[in-house]
Amino acid sequence: MQFMFTMPTLAQFGRGAAGRLAPVLLENGVKRVFLVSDPGVQAAGLLDAPLRALREAGQTVLCFTETLPNAPDYQVDAAAAEAREFRPDAVVAVGGGSSIDTAKAVNILLANPDPLRRYDGVNLVPAPGRMLVAVPTTAGTSSECTVVAVISDEKQAKKMVIFGKNVAPSIALIDPALTDGLPPHLTAHTGMDALTHALEAYISLAASPATDAIAPEAVALIAANLPAAYADGSDTAARDNIMLGCQLAGICFSNAGLGLVHSLAQPLGGRCHVPHGLANAVCLPHVLAFNLQAVPEHKIVRIARALGLETQDAKVADLIADIRLCLEKLARTLHIPSITEAGGRREAVPAMSEDALKELSTPTTPRKATTQEIAALYEDLFMQAEHTA
Ligand SMILES: [Fe+2]
Repeated sequence: MQFMFTMPTLAQFGRGAAGRLAPVLLENGVKRVFLVSDPGVQAAGLLDAPLRALREAGQTVLCFTETLPNAPDYQVDAAAAEAREFRPDAVVAVGGGSSIDTAKAVNILLANPDPLRRYDGVNLVPAPGRMLVAVPTTAGTSSECTVVAVISDEKQAKKMVIFGKNVAPSIALIDPALTDGLPPHLTAHTGMDALTHALEAYISLAASPATDAIAPEAVALIAANLPAAYADGSDTAARDNIMLGCQLAGICFSNAGLGLVHSLAQPLGGRCHVPHGLANAVCLPHVLAFNLQAVPEHKIVRIARALGLETQDAKVADLIADIRLCLEKLARTLHIPSITEAGGRREAVPAMSEDALKELSTPTTPRKATTQEIAALYEDLFMQAEHTA
């Protein structure tokens, strides 16, 4: 048995963890903080307490709160220009995946030359940046504890996936209380992204005994608690369990990679601007079922059990059908729209199919797909959308 496993981020998990931000920075000798966030987080008041604490602790803080969904590269460049002039000791992200990914990219550009595009790929970032602290306000991308930054290359209408060394945050302060006020649709989209991470990491060709031990627990935690958190955002037990599942899923996909669901979802973001979590939610049941045809039986049984399905004496084909139905039911419960309603454009299928084949998640997907098969999967989703319209 041989495998590698990494978890470079020091993570503190629990209600109240966000309150550790100012002490953690002081303990590390930080005096100047470049804080990255987005307008929604600011409007929700989630920056008030950390900014107050940082200023009371004597920190000089410069805020960049212009982050947009899907983290476009021009925003990264604007933030990096401000950060280079400010010369921070630490970069802090308070927000969802786009804010944390923007902060990761800014931190890369604080220590490495432009343009960001040259780091698109695996282990291409030569120099470590400043201390980077991530405080997530969603339970979705797990960007706070992963070695990945996904940034939209707006000129080329694609997603850059900057993966590997010198990308991960130094410290993650993971406080589920920050997700208590997340609106239902964002709870659904981010939660389905996390569920996709757990499922795709588990069936990845790069899965290891370590990720196999963790991923089914992540599937179970997220799938069992997502409907409750969607129906009642103040259900703190459900919020805590989803955040825990999300972190476990992040640890898994940081090590095992992802698969074809993400390969189809990324071009939906790059070419049609469908938000990342929603794009995965739209693709998950159909594309996962395609993939499961090439997955060992014991893993299919374990996924079915993690989703709470009966597996006694069931045939593999029936279990795959049951898993698909279960995920479709979950998507209906969470009011996930069709690919068309989500913003997908059918005329983009040829270009998206070419893009999907080149995605970083494609080599680790268990069932190899041709461009034509990927196009057929997209077309199936658009046909489903027509039938349900
Ligand atoms: Fe994702």
